[in-house]
Amino acid sequence: MSNPQLAIEGLDPLLAADLAQGLAQVEELLSTHIEGDYPLVEETSRHLVLAGGKRLRPLLVLLTSHLGPERGSNIFKAAVACELTHLGTLYHDDVMDEAALRRGVTSANYRWGNAVAILTGDYLFAKTSALLAEVGPEAVLLQALTFERLVIGQIQETQGPNPSQDPMDHYMKVVSNKTASLISTSARFGAMLSGADPRITETVTEFGELIGTAFQLADDILDIASESAQSGKTPGTDLKEGIPTLVTILARASEDPADADLKEILSGPIHDEVLLQQTLIRLRSHKAMGQARQMLDETAARALTLLEDLPENPVKQALSGVISAVINRSA
Ligand code: IPE
Ligand code: IPE
Ligand code: MG
Ligand code: MG
Ligand code: MG
Repeated sequence: MSNPQLAIEGLDPLLAADLAQGLAQVEELLSTHIEGDYPLVEETSRHLVLAGGKRLRPLLVLLTSHLGPERGSNIFKAAVACELTHLGTLYHDDVMDEAALRRGVTSANYRWGNAVAILTGDYLFAKTSALLAEVGPEAVLLQALTFERLVIGQIQETQGPNPSQDPMDHYMKVVSNKTASLISTSARFGAMLSGADPRITETVTEFGELIGTAFQLADDILDIASESAQSGKTPGTDLKEGIPTLVTILARASEDPADADLKEILSGPIHDEVLLQQTLIRLRSHKAMGQARQMLDETAARALTLLEDLPENPVKQALSGVISAVINRSA
């Protein structure tokens, strides 16, 4: 597996054992729930399920489900629904980004074509709704509102900022909508379905928003700083597509005359493979990279501050471990 599950340090042993068992149950339900009447769409769905992934969203659902007194199958259904929603968006995102590699394997759009990849994403969304219908209307509504935000984020990214808009403001809105939305909802689902105190549910929802933002900042840094072996994706995909992200927005704000040509290169898609590799190398040592890491650290620090509102227990410690894992991923 090219991008294994996040390594969370300092986990309480009992909680770790419970999470391991819970994640195994999530895998089981994920696998059976994508079964269907039409072999091709089941095969294309299973393609990325089997390729792995970090399972961050189910992990958050399971973790925050320890904040309330109730247990039960709804928690696993919600965890699977969050992963299925995420998975559906990955199929669509790779079409939009023309990405060839996902989770260390050929993307569905490269293997079966765009039409099949898009329909596989749709199939997974259908499966998500069916699963959440078993949990109840509140869960269906939460997923629907989350998915709405996610789609809006992807459209905002596609459209780009309008001329009067600050590119960084636009970017942060995109990140919040396309990525933090679902990560926040994952944290909320666990607390909500376990019957946690509503104040705790709100705190972990906000926490999820911040950790989700940090997660996308890290992902955007990794698009420049990492290799495929680490990310399971092709580095430079955002640059190639001309999608402005954290590091490139910061580099384009540079007033150093030595950056003039770089700013020009970053003003649109980079089609030339040699120029793409040169630009990646240049950005890796550019001061914008340090500034980007600092913004990531600041976001993570805000997430950590929010955790102070939670009671002292192994879940709080684990959520703090999730923050470190997200930051370390981009180090
Ligand atoms: C990729 O998400 C899309 C983003 C929101 C950055 P993940 O990095 O969680 O992908 P997997 O599930 O581990 O493959
Ligand atoms: C996509 O962001 C986030 C989604 C909501 C799918 P990216 O386009 O950066 O995700 P990756 O890098 O392809 O995983
Ligand atoms: Mg992408
Ligand atoms: Mg994208
Ligand atoms: Mg990315």
